Amino acid sequence: MNLGILISGRGSNMAALVEAMRGGRVEGAEVAVVVSDRAGAAGLARAAELGIETAVVERRGRTREGHEREIIAALRARGVGLVCLAGYMRLLSPCFVEEFRGRALNIHPSLLPAFPGLDAQRQAIEHGVRFSGCTVHFIDETLDGGPIVVQRVVPVCDDDTPDTLAARILVEEHRAYAEAVALVASGNYEVVGRRVIKKP
Ligand code: GRF
Repeated sequence: MNLGILISGRGSNMAALVEAMRGGRVEGAEVAVVVSDRAGAAGLARAAELGIETAVVERRGRTREGHEREIIAALRARGVGLVCLAGYMRLLSPCFVEEFRGRALNIHPSLLPAFPGLDAQRQAIEHGVRFSGCTVHFIDETLDGGPIVVQRVVPVCDDDTPDTLAARILVEEHRAYAEAVALVASGNYEVVGRRVIKKP
């Protein structure tokens, strides 16, 4: 299965996914392209170092739908069967969701449905939760709201700042994303309502 990874920034989840595939921890999947909506995204250089093809489709000068149609075309041209949003900082519109329904994953740094949206780690600290973590989920029309594939939990410490909590969560993000892609690439699951159920 060909993967397309969408990024806007540093790209550590993207790199972790590539390494997991190359290390044999995710079978039956390879990264065909990394697409960024920001030309200056650090993750682009990282992808190039890893020998992965990159493409930049900037938002500037394009309508929202035009922008997404161009990304869809770049993904189709490479036969992408699974899209992974990895720090892609823009909400995707119905045209993209429709095109990749059940075939696009996102990672979010909280235990959804708690703390969707921006600054999830700060939201968790300010709410006073004792545990947080990360969630890999299918995308749908809602913000961070689609069916959940994998979650991993970390403790929240009394002296945590958003940065220290983010660093603890990020380690688990890298594991969770590989686990989720391995499951989806295997096809060994079914979606029942909102539930993603592994087949025995
Ligand atoms: C991660 O915390 C991810 O959960 C969130 O944005 C951050 C991206 O980090 N959606 P990176 O670019 O993968 O390093």
